[in-house]
Amino acid sequence: MSETALVTGPTAGIGQAFAQQLAARGYDLVLVARDEERLEKTAAELRAAHGVEVEVLSADLTDRDDMARVEARLADEARPVDLLVNNAGFGLKERFLDNPADVETAMLDILVTAVLRLSHAALGPMAERGHGGIINVSSVAAFLPRGTYSAAKAWVNSFSEWAANEYRPRGVTVMALCPGFTKTEFHARMDVGRDSAPGFMWLDADKLVATALSDFDKGRIYSIPSPQYKAIATAARLVPNSVLQRFQSMGRK
Ligand SMILES: NC(=O)c1ccc[n+]([C@@H]2O[C@H](COP(=O)([O-])OP(=O)(O)OC[C@H]3O[C@@H](n4cnc5c(N)ncnc54)[C@H](OP(=O)(O)O)[C@@H]3O)[C@@H](O)[C@H]2O)c1
Repeated sequence: MSETALVTGPTAGIGQAFAQQLAARGYDLVLVARDEERLEKTAAELRAAHGVEVEVLSADLTDRDDMARVEARLADEARPVDLLVNNAGFGLKERFLDNPADVETAMLDILVTAVLRLSHAALGPMAERGHGGIINVSSVAAFLPRGTYSAAKAWVNSFSEWAANEYRPRGVTVMALCPGFTKTEFHARMDVGRDSAPGFMWLDADKLVATALSDFDKGRIYSIPSPQYKAIATAARLVPNSVLQRFQSMGRK
């Protein structure tokens, strides 16, 4: 019987690459995002290209009632989910004090609360069955002082590392994927141009996800695709935060 993966944010960018590559591996899919028309279009393309079963679940992951429907789907013992990809997310262009607190809270809800609640819903049944996996899409920003987005992604890294060690003995693999700048809709949604970071810094979502899935197959706790971002993650541990903070406007213009 085929395995099932639930992917949040599968209609664009990194999540779309996950949905395509998981379907190519034979996974049936549950797709979660807000725009129902786009979800149905993505589902139809995946069914046609890969012959897999695709369910769509329209939900805004900053809304607690919508989130509850996704949690219920993950906890449904009759239709087990073998792999959860917590990918949906957005960033904010403005500095902390220039954003209303509610906007900051919505970002925290999707980057942290959704990862916590969906992992909580999925991990119980996975640990019970002794089989499953979770990929949390974090960011290289987790290693850098870049405001509340970095702080949220640092939570994702810390949580993923802990959960990976906690649940590995129970058959569940957990990995944090830390992309650098990747060509998706993320920056356009923030109203930020591609010229906000040098060309060599931009990654391709398909290659990024191929590396991530290969790292996941190897049981790695972290996946940091591409040499330049591996170097940044290493350097960030050695350079004082006060120096790193000077680069925080990169990717926000
Ligand atoms: N691109 C980068 O440079 C980069 C770098 C490091 C980390 N990341 C991380 O990678 C992940 C994916 O980003 P991406 O670059 O692929 O973004 P993207 O191209 O903008 O795609 C975002 C996806 O998330 C969904 N989404 C957005 N808000 C949502 C909400 N409130 N509820 C449910 N779904 C929602 C979108 O669909 P709807 O709009 O229809 O809901 C879409 O499918 C994020 O966690 C991001 O923080 C990105």
